[in-house]
Amino acid sequence: MKKICFFNLKGGCAKTTSIINIVSYLAMKNNKILVVDCDMQSNLTSSLINYDMYRPGIFQVFTGEKDINEVIIRVKDNIDLLPSSLLMSTLEPRINGIYGREFILQRALNKLHNNYDYIFYDSSPSFSLVTTNAIVASDNIIVPVQTEYFAVEGVKLLLETLNYIKEGLNIQTELKYLFATMHDTRNNLNTIQYENLKKVFKDKFLDTYIRKNVALAESPIFKQSIFEYKPHSNGAHDYELLIKEIESKGGF
Ligand SMILES: Nc1ncnc2c1ncn2[C@@H]1O[C@H](COP(=O)(O)OP(=O)(O)OP(=O)(O)O)[C@@H](O)[C@H]1O
Ligand SMILES: [Mg+2]
Repeated sequence: MKKICFFNLKGGCAKTTSIINIVSYLAMKNNKILVVDCDMQSNLTSSLINYDMYRPGIFQVFTGEKDINEVIIRVKDNIDLLPSSLLMSTLEPRINGIYGREFILQRALNKLHNNYDYIFYDSSPSFSLVTTNAIVASDNIIVPVQTEYFAVEGVKLLLETLNYIKEGLNIQTELKYLFATMHDTRNNLNTIQYENLKKVFKDKFLDTYIRKNVALAESPIFKQSIFEYKPHSNGAHDYELLIKEIESKGGF
């Protein structure tokens, strides 16, 4: 079972969009997947099922009110979801005093009844106790980056955060890949930043980039991945290519 967290302190860089589409592709190839929504915005949850603030989910797993197996929902063939809600915004003060508070999610996941090929965590764009729990419970981190202003600086800050967590908690989670999202090769700034990222992060920065594609923004409205909504779009093409490059480099 591979455990991967999509992480970037910068908001709106396509963490949730990337998870939805990558997971959908892997599920079509018969992989069994659990997606864990660690973001109070609950965009991942809303992209898969109708949002319901009162549905028990990750909040109750963190507080210990529910067993993880009780609140996981089958949302599609081969895809299970641990849903989030806005209640997550009230979580931190409640778990602050818990012994081993950075390991709550990992402890809960150790009790999973189902066997998955992959667990993917969607995180919020902030350094919080919940984000730390997601990183602790992951083997690898994948970072979607927008090739805009301060792209390299943003990722360096993120790496500092990751190292701080790793040293403080003595965990082995690794930055595995970065890739460019909403990329436009006709935009000079995008091209310069893409090249800067390649220079700094070398092989970890994937060659494949995800182009801007309106179908990627539309598909969650219909609770569909890009492969269901518009399988012949640039978005579907790019995410398929991205996964193939990851597989060619040894996988997630
Ligand atoms: N390749 C793309 N082309 C066009 N729009 C995109 C693309 N990727 C993502 N978007 C849109 O950009 C916005 C931000 O994407 P998304 O919500 O996936 O980012 P995020 O990193 O999860 O954000 P947050 O940090 O708030 O959780 C969304 O409206 C999404 O539909
Ligand atoms: Mg998101």
